[in-house]
Amino acid sequence: MKYAHEIEKRKTFAIISHPDAGKTTLTEKLLLFGGAIQTAGAVKSNKIKKHATSDFMEIERQRGISVATSVMSFEYREKLINLLDTPGHKDFAEDTYRTLTAVDSVILVIDCVKGVEEQTERLMEVCRMRDTPVIIFINKMDRDGRNPFDLMEEVEKKLNIKTQPLTWPINMGREFKGVYNILDKSLLRFQANQKATDEDLLDLPDLNNPQLDSLLGEKDAAVLREDMELINGVYESFDQESYLNGELAPVFFGSAVNNFGVKDMLDMFIRIAPSPRPRMTDQREISAYDNKFSGFIFKIHANIDPKHRDRVAFLRVCSGKFERNTFYHHVRLDKNVRFSNPYTFLAREKNVVDDAYPGDVVGLFDTGNFKIGDTLTEGENYFYTGIPSFSPELFKELVNNDPMKTKQLEKGIRQLTDEGVAQLFTQHGGNRKIIGCVGDLQFEVIQYRLLQEYGAACSFRTLPYFKACWIKGPQDIVSNFTRFKQANIVEDKEGNLVYLAESAWYLNTERTNNPEIKFYITSDFKHELE
Ligand code: G4P
Repeated sequence: MKYAHEIEKRKTFAIISHPDAGKTTLTEKLLLFGGAIQTAGAVKSNKIKKHATSDFMEIERQRGISVATSVMSFEYREKLINLLDTPGHKDFAEDTYRTLTAVDSVILVIDCVKGVEEQTERLMEVCRMRDTPVIIFINKMDRDGRNPFDLMEEVEKKLNIKTQPLTWPINMGREFKGVYNILDKSLLRFQANQKATDEDLLDLPDLNNPQLDSLLGEKDAAVLREDMELINGVYESFDQESYLNGELAPVFFGSAVNNFGVKDMLDMFIRIAPSPRPRMTDQREISAYDNKFSGFIFKIHANIDPKHRDRVAFLRVCSGKFERNTFYHHVRLDKNVRFSNPYTFLAREKNVVDDAYPGDVVGLFDTGNFKIGDTLTEGENYFYTGIPSFSPELFKELVNNDPMKTKQLEKGIRQLTDEGVAQLFTQHGGNRKIIGCVGDLQFEVIQYRLLQEYGAACSFRTLPYFKACWIKGPQDIVSNFTRFKQANIVEDKEGNLVYLAESAWYLNTERTNNPEIKFYITSDFKHELE
């Protein structure tokens, strides 16, 4: 175990939320704690503002900026934290899903007024697939939100995970007075528009201490005592193992914009969040402590601005040590590749790096050698698994507008879908090409890029499907099914059979009528439709 010290030091995670819950604000506060930035407001929100939804060039421009902030590394309390950014815009949700395959844990931000929102549920589904440990930050406590017990109940129900509060709010909105740290038994008081300092932190092991009444007022003190009695009655002592297994999410309350309650969470994150964990390949599990280098590509960013056309592949180092100018084995292409200018992102600066360790993310300039999920090793032939495709939500048929450019169109659409811009399906037993995306913007991006980069003009014909399910079952039964349902059957790029459903009703009917066929929501046939 050559690099144990480096591995234990690292914590690689992402912050996820429904747009507007406070992800960017929380990111900024964490970077302030880590000394990666000096002033508030320094993190330009790389979320794509709502009004820009129809202007994809603007969105791409912002995404270009966001490459620099794709990974934000900083040190805090002798740990090296790699925070992987996820796009806020829902049309880029698939980017986020893939980023989640490259982290070891997540912090989920929930707006206390809105509770669990649609995008929160989707993102948590992806986390649960991998049993990713989750810490929950309930934000905007300075607003009149929902009752904290109700919020916890909603989180448990909708997100299908047990929760345990580690801090507890005292009132909310205008009357928000602070949080009580349940583990440390300390009280952090909140004063609007004022930074909480350590002086506001008070050790308070005994809640019956009359000091509590003078600090909070009798009413709020009584409510806190009551709440804590209830909480102590319901929850056992915090079990880190359950958290690490993705079964239990510790919950913190606070206000990111006021930098309140954030430090409690960060300090706990440092204590409990996992350092780089073992990862599965198609051959065996690879430990981060394995001396030989390995890693996989989880994201490819292509800048579509013709003035700055570059492509960056993001490599997550999984084991051993990655070194600059060293030949590594590109398993899928069966060839050796080396990188003279790999970079990392310490303190938000792009820096050429000489080496990187498990948990780190390295940006590699790419001329088209990579596709999502590619594995690099020191020579062994295995692939990291668990970087599946997820069902798209919109489906359109690709229409070739210029028959003279058929070859270019074919090549272009293959390359763009390798990058993960969208998914390509081909009609089973035919040649029609169907593109699946999460958001409408991707269709615009594809159309633009096919024309600009490949000279191929295309348009799209909307199709009535809402979900793709990868199917498997006894061969004769599957053959029968595909014959009967020919119009709905396509193949993904690997030749796997996929059923496109028009509605939940159709999907349920087919499942009931074909009990021997299994319907999966990911391309790796690991997650069955519930
Ligand atoms: P996102 O990345 O999850 O999309 O959310 P972001 O941090 O951009 O926050 C969304 C809005 O919520 C921002 O306001 C932000 O200031 C506000 N916000 C974040 N944390 C808190 C909090 O603890 N309390 C309150 N009251 N508001 C909070 P905005 O008006 O959309 O943008 P801005 O002009 O303030 O930047």
